[in-house]
Amino acid sequence: MLAQVTSALALLLAASSVVAKPVTVKDSPVTMSFARRMNVTGGADILKMDRARATSLKVRSSTHGAKTKDELMKNAVGAAFGVPSTNQGVSYVVEVVIGTPPTTYDMLVDTGSSNTWICCEIDYFPSNTSFDTGNSVYVEYGSGVMLGEQYLDVVHIAPGFTITNQSLGVALIAEGFDGVDGLLGLGPQYLTYGNLFPDATTYVPTVVDNLYDQGVIPKPFIGISFQPTTVMNTTNGEITFGQVDQTKIQGQINYVPITETLPSAYYVGINQTITYGNHKTMVLNNTAGITDTGTTLLLLASDALATYQSLTGAVLDSDVGLLKLTPAQFANLQSLWFTIGDDTYEFTADAQIWPRTLNTAIGGTSDFVYLIVSDIGSDGGTGMDFINGMMFLERFYTAYDTLGNQFGIARTAETFVSVN
Ligand SMILES: *[C@@H]1O[C@H](CO)[C@@H](O)[C@H](O)[C@H]1NC(C)=O
Ligand SMILES: *[C@@H]1O[C@H](CO)[C@@H](O)[C@H](O)[C@H]1NC(C)=O
Ligand SMILES: *[C@@H]1O[C@H](CO)[C@@H](O)[C@H](O)[C@H]1NC(C)=O
Ligand SMILES: *[C@@H]1O[C@H](CO)[C@@H](O)[C@H](O)[C@H]1NC(C)=O
Ligand SMILES: *[C@@H]1O[C@H](CO)[C@@H](O)[C@H](O)[C@H]1NC(C)=O
Ligand SMILES: *[C@@H]1O[C@H](CO)[C@@H](O)[C@H](O)[C@H]1NC(C)=O
Repeated sequence: MLAQVTSALALLLAASSVVAKPVTVKDSPVTMSFARRMNVTGGADILKMDRARATSLKVRSSTHGAKTKDELMKNAVGAAFGVPSTNQGVSYVVEVVIGTPPTTYDMLVDTGSSNTWICCEIDYFPSNTSFDTGNSVYVEYGSGVMLGEQYLDVVHIAPGFTITNQSLGVALIAEGFDGVDGLLGLGPQYLTYGNLFPDATTYVPTVVDNLYDQGVIPKPFIGISFQPTTVMNTTNGEITFGQVDQTKIQGQINYVPITETLPSAYYVGINQTITYGNHKTMVLNNTAGITDTGTTLLLLASDALATYQSLTGAVLDSDVGLLKLTPAQFANLQSLWFTIGDDTYEFTADAQIWPRTLNTAIGGTSDFVYLIVSDIGSDGGTGMDFINGMMFLERFYTAYDTLGNQFGIARTAETFVSVN
């Protein structure tokens, strides 16, 4: 399996190095505004979606060897039935302008998958900029499934920054994606392998690959910035393409190689150690997991979560679905420390809690403080023992450098703020 990833990677690196390098590249980063939208009645919904996703990330999606379009359709319908019955959740979205005439789609941002597709409320009309490849595209997400037809078309990432012939799935079935018009896949290109039908042995260049190959950005690189927020819906973040947005970080950005441990190695996976409190008590000892914009909470292996619970005294609120503390316990909550590469990042007590102004939005009360540290659903040792979801990423600036096969993290003005 590892050899597979490594050789896929080597192929991709070789492929990118033969591409003629661009003449003009923008000096400052190409950016997109990044918004959060919440449609929940309970924290249990958020956890359910996150866990379903964690489970599916451990098994890479593909067309599962379908031999005919009928089989593919049956797979999709079957998988759609497996989707959690609620569409409620927290979505991190960007606006992307696609096609001719230019049409705006609100798309989920997903570093855990790599196909880009559009759906639902907004019709897609093939035009003189589109090309029908004759392929179908199929992707399973745990909290959803998508089957569509593949087109190539223009995509406007930001005003003045356009790519042509971007692969797009135009969905026939998109289950589990209410309230958005598609998904922008920002993960590594090798995750697209096996998602086309009948052309099942090809890779599909991602939006980031095309931005790079077509000379719009200096390297295939994304930066994620999102400020912690205490309201349900806000446009509080930014995705940077091609380079770090220096205005968003404090100090240096620290890079570590993408982990070699499967299945985390398929995603924006890293090795990380987590300790708790002033005595730096071990919670997770140098293990692999991922950072993921498609996950809301900070998920830890069940045994690591049990350690965290015993250190903090947190108990599960089965109605809300999250761990909770009394205000007195919260007053004693200490920092988590994330060692990533040579640096250790403090994740403060304030960072570990659900915004108290939104307690009722998740079915909680003002008598308790709810925690965003949650259970991934299995003990450690799976090769994906944590997911640093958006509520972790909100405290830092993080970067994914596809060509360098590395992850970067920097502190921001929000790393230590108390807002929750
Ligand atoms: C937030 O956005 C969601 C999804 O678009 C919507 O259902 C909800 O009503 C919005 N909530 C608020 C408070 O605006
Ligand atoms: C495509 O069609 C649009 C009008 O629909 C026109 O404005 C544009 O010039 C055409 N582009 C090309 C490349 O033919
Ligand atoms: C897009 O791809 C199609 C099919 O490969 C090709 O015919 C067309 O020339 C390409 N368009 C551009 C602008 O590269
Ligand atoms: C919000 O959730 C409800 C219940 O699952 C769903 O019917 C509705 O479509 C969702 N709305 C949005 C905007 O996502
Ligand atoms: C990550 O941890 C694994 C298991 O301890 C180890 O094999 C690997 O070399 C470490 N580093 C990377 C970059 O994967
Ligand atoms: C963490 O793992 C390393 C290597 O396996 C081991 O030497 C060390 O004792 C462990 N630390 C703790 C606190 O468990």
